[in-house]
Amino acid sequence: MKKALISGICGQDGSYLSELLLEKGYEVYGLVRRKAKEDYGNVAHIKDKIRFIYGDVTDLASLILAIKEADPDEIYNLAAQSFVKASWDSPVSTGEIDGLGVTNFLEAIRQTNRKIRFYQASTSEMFGKVQAIPQDETTPFYPRSPYGVAKLYAHWITINYRESYGLFACCGILFNHESERRGLEFVTRKITHGIARIVKKGNRAPIELGNLDAKRDWGHARDYVKAMWLMLQQDKPDDYVIASGETHAVREFVYEAFKEAGIELEFKGKGVDEVGIDKKTKEVLVKVNPIFYRPAEVELLIGNPKKAETKLNWKKEIDFKTLVKLMVQNDLRLADEE
Ligand code: GDD
Repeated sequence: MKKALISGICGQDGSYLSELLLEKGYEVYGLVRRKAKEDYGNVAHIKDKIRFIYGDVTDLASLILAIKEADPDEIYNLAAQSFVKASWDSPVSTGEIDGLGVTNFLEAIRQTNRKIRFYQASTSEMFGKVQAIPQDETTPFYPRSPYGVAKLYAHWITINYRESYGLFACCGILFNHESERRGLEFVTRKITHGIARIVKKGNRAPIELGNLDAKRDWGHARDYVKAMWLMLQQDKPDDYVIASGETHAVREFVYEAFKEAGIELEFKGKGVDEVGIDKKTKEVLVKVNPIFYRPAEVELLIGNPKKAETKLNWKKEIDFKTLVKLMVQNDLRLADEE
């Protein structure tokens, strides 16, 4: 039976990856930080099938102990301060967790068992101010946030340990991936959760958003964790872009999500004055609030997943409209249940 150790196991990706690995017969270990109150987040429904080990990516000793305890064949490092906007408020801790934390993991592997296969969660945020359209594995990086800069350090240190010590270490350069389990601070879930509040709770205060022009390549997290696993099953370690190959503005996500809930929106105004209005009732349901703007924005992301499609035989199964539908329907259902 194969064994995997996952950091960030309670998050969106950690939960889908755990389900996938459990289905495949893995013994799954989760690295978690000790909290005063136990909180299993997105893996609460499968917590009895997971073995939890206390540890922290900023603490090398704890990682060495965790590896000794779990003795894993594979490690998936999904632990991160993953909210880009918060990285301007906490640039140093973001660097410690998202950057140096990865060196700790690699160093722990180097010192304990160099046969362990390692997956690092790299990100399309490393492309930032994009130098080519679409972005693939050869596109130069230009991060635009403390988060992006920290993740770029992590990306290169993973490659460096692969080249220096021959570790089987892979970076998945994943574009935005969402789901019904997405945190409420991310724009997609903020929108679908806000729609459920408007439609089901009768709270008609508009959803306040930032830059509606930003474009993202959105896929479903369930599809993307399959790519993580595939990377670690190859003969040789390598880095892969995982993306849907399509890009949509935030405004389009808003429009499609409202449509899924039975409301057709029209947009009026520009910049901070832009609003989304219910075409029928003329009610303002979306407005712009500049507090959600970022000091430096990533305007456009669109990935080219060809390498993953040919070498890993990976393919997305859930398209943009289906993703929106799943998220909206889920939030409407949750609002009904509350
Ligand atoms: N969060 C948020 N809230 N974003 C908003 C809002 C808002 O009210 N209004 C507009 N946006 C815009 C952001 O400015 C950004 O351009 C876009 O919506 C997406 O923001 P997020 O959903 O917060 O995601 P992200 O693209 O910054 O980062 C996500 O994807 C990365 C991969 O590219 C995160 O999951 C990262 O951890 C991940 O690395």
